[in-house]
Amino acid sequence: MLTSQAKTFRSSLLDWYDSHARELPWRSSPSLYKTVVSELMLQQTQVKTVLPYFDRWLKRFPDFQALANASEEDVLKHWEGLGYYSRARNLHKLAKEVAALDSIPTDAKSWQAFPGIGPYASAAVTSITFNTPAAVVDGNVVRILSRLTADASDYKNSSDAAKAYQALANDLLNPKRPGDHNQAMMELGATVCHKQKPLCMLCPVTSLCEARAKGIEETLPRLAKAKYEEKTVDRAWIQNGDKFLLRKIPETASRMKGLHEIPSLEQCGLKLPKSAKPALTRKRSITKYRITERIHALSPSKLPPELSEDLLWATQSDLDNLPLSGPHRRWLEELLKT
Ligand code: ADE
Repeated sequence: MLTSQAKTFRSSLLDWYDSHARELPWRSSPSLYKTVVSELMLQQTQVKTVLPYFDRWLKRFPDFQALANASEEDVLKHWEGLGYYSRARNLHKLAKEVAALDSIPTDAKSWQAFPGIGPYASAAVTSITFNTPAAVVDGNVVRILSRLTADASDYKNSSDAAKAYQALANDLLNPKRPGDHNQAMMELGATVCHKQKPLCMLCPVTSLCEARAKGIEETLPRLAKAKYEEKTVDRAWIQNGDKFLLRKIPETASRMKGLHEIPSLEQCGLKLPKSAKPALTRKRSITKYRITERIHALSPSKLPPELSEDLLWATQSDLDNLPLSGPHRRWLEELLKT
């Protein structure tokens, strides 16, 4: 892209952002803490989903110190339903590290040493908070840049495409207001340059957009379709009086550590019943898996004499305090009604 076009892009984008930016709670009286929390919550999650979580989080954990002092259970509980729980655990670790520092680094590279902070979050946090010149490239930015340049190359996935666009994003970055420039890119991607039916009539840089000129904007970026694997998980719903069996996901697990779940048959030392007729069957997707969840109601008499130490008997009132993932909480509510 020519220098003159880059200049037009920067100024048109920022003018538009200055008059069209949504009022969002992390944008009014911003702080390092609010920026870190919002950026981690907003990874893989839409603004409208994040809003109530962000408010609740700031009330309960108003700063790095308060978060550092909190228990992991409390932290997970306040993240419950947002998914991708490693973000919460990393944010908790990051708060402990930041709270112990005398001086906080302002460059993007140093920020990548903090837990859960990759190239995107380090650029977002340092540019928004310290005006560090680091360009963000997320799915929104990939979409904008692939259309701007009418790049019809095939990319394996969004993160490969992000790497390919980092140099152009750096070239386009507004060196005077890098944080606002980055937020303007996110805003344009979220509110105008939609995947389907982009609102090109409202776009401040439409005259520079090569895909628009060719009428191919909706076909870009060209990302390979994700491949999914089918999987079935059989779980045990075991009630004993007013108690039921749950599992606390151990530290050694790769995902959802510290959350509670309805255990699988295997985790209870049980085999699939011959005449299996699940009390509840639900489908869901996690990363590349399309999962059929089958929950079988079984008698506690089927359990082996020694239970695994991850298992616990909970009551309905315990559910107010135990962190559970969104789907497990919904299934439990359904099972407890029947
Ligand atoms: N998505 C990621 N970061 C964002 C931000 N700061 N504002 C709006 N949407 C975002």
